[in-house]
Amino acid sequence: MSDKQQMLTVAMPKGRIFSETVELFRSAGIPLPADFSESSRKLIIPLEEAGFTFFLAKPTDVPTYVEYGVADIGIVGKDVLMEEERNVYELLDLSIGQCRMCVAGPPHTLGDPFSRVATKYPRTASRYFRGQGQQVEVIKLNGSVELAPLIGLAERIVDIVSTGRTLKENGLVEEETITTITSRLIANRASYRMKAERIDQLCRQVREVVEGSEQYDTAVDK
Ligand code: PRP
Repeated sequence: MSDKQQMLTVAMPKGRIFSETVELFRSAGIPLPADFSESSRKLIIPLEEAGFTFFLAKPTDVPTYVEYGVADIGIVGKDVLMEEERNVYELLDLSIGQCRMCVAGPPHTLGDPFSRVATKYPRTASRYFRGQGQQVEVIKLNGSVELAPLIGLAERIVDIVSTGRTLKENGLVEEETITTITSRLIANRASYRMKAERIDQLCRQVREVVEGSEQYDTAVDK
């Protein structure tokens, strides 16, 4: 790759979708090295031959890097995208990191009115309850949200549920599903114009893998 202009910088999220994302990109033909690990201290991985630079980021920061153009491309959950409201292009649903965003609480209180909700997603939760015509106080937490109803900080939580194990282990149950969540490929708006060919090419490669595995899933289901 001689043309520096056409290098693509990709922000990869650490955490729950990291392994699936790496696998997807490898299947799409991007030669990510075998030692590319989220626990690596090295945060920037140049793949000069292939024309990519990958960097490891906290998932909630991925849309920020992409909006500011320090990453041309990013991979991020729809939950983060909805919450961060960054000015980026959403290019592709990657069908990985599937989970749902729910309202949950202690089983004996379901159906009761409530006034306080704890969440890592205050904007999304506020929008949801406003849309339902429900007046609630939304309290922002940064993690371990399931604690809130157990210790009396809030009567409900809004959080993502994947296997349902965390809720179960804390004696909580889902009350309502707000939306289903998957991971998305996003792009910086200017990059999408200036590097259209390369970004389209990457999208095509990734889409082929996503659609291929969806067909496979359907075949297995039948
Ligand atoms: C997420 C989410 C739930 C849990 C759900 O937290 O906030 O707590 O995972 O997954 P499960 O349904 O498979 O149990 P995360 O692991 O990101 O950690 P955090 O609570 O520190 O944010």
